[in-house]
Amino acid sequence: MSGKRIKKAVIPAAGMGTRFLPATKAQPKEMLPIVDKPTIQYVVEEAVAAGIEDILIITGRNKRAIEDHFDHCVEIEATLQARGKEEELKMVRDISAMVDIHYVRQKEPLGLGHAVYCARKFVGSEPFAVLLGDDIINSDVPCIRQLIDVYEERGGTVLGVQHVDWNDVHKYGIVSSYSTNGPICRVGSLVEKPLREKAPSNLAVLGRYVIEPEIFAVLEQTQPGSGGEIQLTDALNELAQSRPVWAYTFTGKRYDVGDKLGFLEATVEYALRRDDLARGFADYLRRLVREDPHLR
Ligand code: UTP
Repeated sequence: MSGKRIKKAVIPAAGMGTRFLPATKAQPKEMLPIVDKPTIQYVVEEAVAAGIEDILIITGRNKRAIEDHFDHCVEIEATLQARGKEEELKMVRDISAMVDIHYVRQKEPLGLGHAVYCARKFVGSEPFAVLLGDDIINSDVPCIRQLIDVYEERGGTVLGVQHVDWNDVHKYGIVSSYSTNGPICRVGSLVEKPLREKAPSNLAVLGRYVIEPEIFAVLEQTQPGSGGEIQLTDALNELAQSRPVWAYTFTGKRYDVGDKLGFLEATVEYALRRDDLARGFADYLRRLVREDPHLR
C-alpha cells in the first residue's frame, strides 16, 4: 500500500444550479429527490460506504435545506414516535446518525476550484476524496471506493473518468494526454470544457476524485478560466506537471442530476431498481410506450 488512508471527503454543493431554474431559485439542486431521497444523500451514502469518516459540505446561499436534512428534526421524530411509525422514525434518525458532517460556506460561487480551496483547513495535509454533490453513480463497489483502492496502490491523485459522447465533451474536464489505454493511465494534461472540434479526447472527469493536499498551493495561484470561474481542472492540470495524476475508468453508471435530462434518467432508472416500485412503474412505462404519441 503506497497511499495514506483516506478518511475525509469534500462535497462541493455551492453552485447556483442555473441549468435547473426555476426549481433551484429557492432550493438547492442537491436536494432534488431521486424517487424519495435527496441527491446529496446518495452522495453521502456513497462516501460512508467507502469508509469515509468525516465529510465537509461546501454550501452557499439558499443551501440551508442541506444542513437541515442531515440534522435532527425533533418535531418530526416526536410525531413519528407518538404515532408508532417505527420504520419512518428509524429512517429519519439514521440520516442524522450516518457520519460527522461539517459545513463551510463559499461566499460567492467562484467555481469548483475555489469551492475545493474552501476545504483547505478541514483537509490539512492529508489526501482527501471529492464527490460532486449533484452527480450520483450507481455501481456495485461505491465509485469513490474504487478510486481509493487505486490511490492506496499507487499514491498520487486519482480522477474518476469515463468515455463520453463526443457531442458532450464541452460539458466536462477532459483528459488531453495520457499514457496507456488501460483502466488506469497517467495523465499528462487536462483541459476544461473544450469545443468538440478541439477536444483532444472524449475521456471525461465525472465528479469523483482523490486529491493530494498539494492541490491547495496550486489552487491559490489558479486564475479564472473557462466561464470566468476558478476551475479545478486547471489546477489538476498544473498538478499533473509535477506529481502523478491517474485517470481511472471506474465501473458504474453516472447521472448528472444538475442537468434536466440527467435528472429524468436517474429518476426513471432508480425507480426501476426499487423493489417496491419496479413492477407498477414498469407496467406504466410499457403502457406509455404503447400509447403515448411522443414515443412512437
Ligand atoms: P456545476 O457546474 O455542475 O454547478 O458544478 P453549477 O455551477 O451549480 O451548475 P449550473 O451550470 O449553474 O447549472 C459542479 C459542482 O461544483 C459545485 C456545484 O455545486 C456542483 O456540485 N460548485 C460549482 C461549487 O460548489 N461552487 C461553485 O462556485 C461552482
